[in-house]
Amino acid sequence: MAKAREPFACLAVYDATMARLMDEAGVHVLLAGDSAAEVVLGLPRTIHMPIDFAMCITAAVRRGASHAHVMADMPFMSYQASPDEAMANAGRFMTEGQADSVKLEADESLAPLIDRMTRAGIPVCAHVGSRPQTAALTSGYTAAGRSEPEAERIVRDARALESAGAVLLLIEAVPSEVTLRVVEATSVPVIGIGAGTGCHGQILVVHDLLGLSTHPPRFALPAAQLAEPIVQAGREWVARVARSELGGKGYTMRPAKSVEAAPEQSRMGNR
Ligand code: KIV
Repeated sequence: MAKAREPFACLAVYDATMARLMDEAGVHVLLAGDSAAEVVLGLPRTIHMPIDFAMCITAAVRRGASHAHVMADMPFMSYQASPDEAMANAGRFMTEGQADSVKLEADESLAPLIDRMTRAGIPVCAHVGSRPQTAALTSGYTAAGRSEPEAERIVRDARALESAGAVLLLIEAVPSEVTLRVVEATSVPVIGIGAGTGCHGQILVVHDLLGLSTHPPRFALPAAQLAEPIVQAGREWVARVARSELGGKGYTMRPAKSVEAAPEQSRMGNR
């Protein structure tokens, strides 16, 4: 699609049900994002994402997706502390999580690690521009590449990471001119988030798309407003319980001799 300049759609999702629905909608890439730390676990920042939880949601997204490319987002300190640990963790995302690729936030200093992962057969997406895992240095999430030296550094990072073997780039929260420079300077597909329309693919957090976030980023235009219907459904449940009118169907007892163990049913499939 990138070669044909057909924009492809990506979303950060965190569970099998949402993966199934967005896969059905034709979303091309599903990222099991570290933003789950905030939107699923209610933690303050993405750096608080526990690695085992990241592993579980990657596997869940994989199970929900039939067609989409599944990308695992490597959490803070799962690849920064040592190259050996980074390799082992990336390997777990590919085997336990059954991801198609791993994403890590990187500048050019991580080129040797990306080279090593690539040699081991792990497809890497290098996340450049604004890097939320470094937000402690900037006292919060900020845009990147707004000055000429910063823009040049991002283009340099992107080039170095592609040369090291990155098969995809993701660029976050930069002016659209910087995105265009990165697209011009590299030859792999570039996914953007808050980076203008000049990239090959676009990604958002699914909660922002569905209108579930209380403070969505400025670039995230919701395609639905699901918060209110969800609250409404909750209120309806509270009211039904209060009235003892549950709806649905109950169970009746069978004559003793025909009672057999009920077959296991999956909530995902045959209900
Ligand atoms: O975890 C995340 O949501 C991300 C974004 C860039 C989509 O990494």
